[in-house]
Amino acid sequence: MDKIVIHGGARLNGELRVLGAKNAALPLQCAALLGDGPTTYRHVPRLSDVQTMSQLLVGLGCAVEGDRTLTIDPTGVQDGPKEAPYELVKTMRASVTVMGPLLGRHGFARVSLPGGCAIGARPIDQHLRGFEALGAKIRMSHGYVEVKAKRLKGARINFDMATVGGTQNVMMAAAMAKGTTVLENAAREPEVQELAIVLGKMGAKIAGAGSPTIEIEGVDALQGIDHAILPDRIEAGTFAIAAAITGGDLLLLDAPSSHMHAVIAKLEEAGVRCRVEPEGLRVIGPDELAPIDLVTRPHPGFPTDMQAQMMVLATLARGQSVITETIFENRFMHVPELCRLGADIHVNGNVAVIRGKARYTGSIVMATDLRASACLVLAGLVAEGKTEIRRVYHLDRGYETIEKRLRKVGAKIRRYHGAPS
Ligand code: EPZ
Repeated sequence: MDKIVIHGGARLNGELRVLGAKNAALPLQCAALLGDGPTTYRHVPRLSDVQTMSQLLVGLGCAVEGDRTLTIDPTGVQDGPKEAPYELVKTMRASVTVMGPLLGRHGFARVSLPGGCAIGARPIDQHLRGFEALGAKIRMSHGYVEVKAKRLKGARINFDMATVGGTQNVMMAAAMAKGTTVLENAAREPEVQELAIVLGKMGAKIAGAGSPTIEIEGVDALQGIDHAILPDRIEAGTFAIAAAITGGDLLLLDAPSSHMHAVIAKLEEAGVRCRVEPEGLRVIGPDELAPIDLVTRPHPGFPTDMQAQMMVLATLARGQSVITETIFENRFMHVPELCRLGADIHVNGNVAVIRGKARYTGSIVMATDLRASACLVLAGLVAEGKTEIRRVYHLDRGYETIEKRLRKVGAKIRRYHGAPS
């Protein structure tokens, strides 16, 4: 198992290119199942989650080629098992997003029910409620859920919460239903909008993506397309905090600033200078950070996927900050590890009270989930001495060779392969 070792204290300076978005790539890979021919995606990030999704698609009967440029040919799915097996779903919950396109295009899908994960229970009841409203029969047995329908029929679906995966899954099913579907209280994330753009290019009729109400007029067939995936706002936000806390100056090439308003607003509140430039986003760290209070919310609110990283900034600020997590019930797993490095954080339910001006000293820490591992890398960048992060396979799910890219802008960071866990 790999580990990452950081010697803290370097100011980060220079340019970093932001790569394609993981949370767009995964549903887009699933959308290729809807096409009657091959689909090619460009700027695909080289991440273990993307590889897992490609493996799943191959298991369904797709031909998958390439990596940065990825071509998915779904022709073989017709005669395939239309099943997402437990072994893959347990490693990556996003595997459930094959259900909508399989149901929409082939009238059947069998998917292992995803168990809980480190950050929360994460049920899929809203996905299934949406499929049922479109006329699908749902059957659960032996840890699997089967959805079946001769031809889905358009319906009005009101989600109990603005679920990203639920909106994407049901949108893909409804794209080939008979008649019109209206999704209410839909998720508005840029990755939902990106999926609607791709489905539109494939021939789907979708209006309102990015707003709480999405209207989908079903069509009989969709084509394969060629599409460049949008840059990753969460990766860009993570690097922005790296510049902010090291007193650095980074130009984040291709950073999707228009998708990052809530994060940029909080950075500016903390005294960080952020400047949108033609090539991307420039971020300049101040001599002293100011405290911030934030509440995670669905887009356009402050993203939960930036909560852990922003907590590191708060621990270094002059004064007290309060962070409230409202999306996932167990997303403070990074707190004990940050305290091991020297932070002063008190958690009460979904509220973390952070006393600032932490003086981090390096130590061995354990990554528990993707964004928690990113926050440990950030803390390691400012810690005195050596920080060793174990279980970095979590990091590789969402950041491509982060250590090489941070080293390019001055960080003293290395990966060691085959270290003890
Ligand atoms: C997506 O997860 C992202 N994953 C997550 O990013 C992100 O944290 C999350 O959206 C919220 O922004 C991908 O895009 C692959 P949800 P998803 O459905 O779709 C509850 C990362 O770090 N809920 O919007 O699973 C759920 O339990 C990952 O990159 C139900 O109760 O999130 C949660 O509390 C982590 N029933 C809330 O809604 C449902 O049927 C939001 O979940 C669906 C969701």
